Amino acid sequence: MVYGKGPKAVDDLSFEIRPGEIVGFAGPNGAGKTTVIKMLTGILKPKEGNASIHGFDIVKESVQAKQNFAYVADDPDVLLQLTGLEYINYIADLYGISVEDRKKRIQELVGRFGMEDALGTPMREYSHGMRQKTMIIAALVHNPPAWILDEPMTGLDPTAAYTLKQMMRKHADNGNAVLFSTHVLEVAEKLCDRILIINHGKFLYQGTIQELEEAHPGKSLETIFIEMTGGNVGEE
Ligand SMILES: Nc1ncnc2c1ncn2[C@@H]1O[C@H](COP(=O)(O)OP(=O)(O)OP(=O)(O)O)[C@@H](O)[C@H]1O
Ligand SMILES: [Mg+2]
Repeated sequence: MVYGKGPKAVDDLSFEIRPGEIVGFAGPNGAGKTTVIKMLTGILKPKEGNASIHGFDIVKESVQAKQNFAYVADDPDVLLQLTGLEYINYIADLYGISVEDRKKRIQELVGRFGMEDALGTPMREYSHGMRQKTMIIAALVHNPPAWILDEPMTGLDPTAAYTLKQMMRKHADNGNAVLFSTHVLEVAEKLCDRILIINHGKFLYQGTIQELEEAHPGKSLETIFIEMTGGNVGEE
């Protein structure tokens, strides 16, 4: 992937997320996580290579591919003139969800994130976390098998973050795939079956956290990450 005339933002990346798995995506600021996620979700077109979701090529079969994943972007500040409910319904319309199906699904998701009282208010009046919760609810309303979440926990309070983590685990345990980027290594450590570590647009590691820690005995994931990505922790 190349932005304009710049160097390659990401290069030579190959990975697969299998049913039943939560995969964490970590890497320093500017490493290429959002770029990869935008290519996976069809927002950016790679110059070379391809991606498929649930067996559908994101470029050649984009409509089918898009029906099969939920995407939470890294920025929840969209369409702020709409109320939360208007935004969620707008997304449900795009996916052609019947009024009956969406009512049940919205009620359930809104209840889980405690957003009942805010739904009628324009999103410009929401806090950052409330906007983030609304984006998550809207992304999940069509109940797709694959979840692709770019820093989904950012701004969520501990209860909402816990709820989302539980939902991610349950979704994967039901045979679905979850990919999420995060800077919080403790979350990755607790939640992920595998982790991808990226820097300068290339993978430094893909595998389980356990294997990574075994390869660096006595070191914490934080230390391993900092050293791998070129930082220095000094004496631990
Ligand atoms: N629209 C753009 N035009 C030019 N360069 C871009 C553009 N978007 C991203 N980049 C560059 O691509 C590289 C990867 O950025 P990306 O947003 O994918 O990083 P990231 O890993 O998601 O970082 P963060 O942790 O800060 O979210 C960076 O060097 C960035 O400056
Ligand atoms: Mg990013």
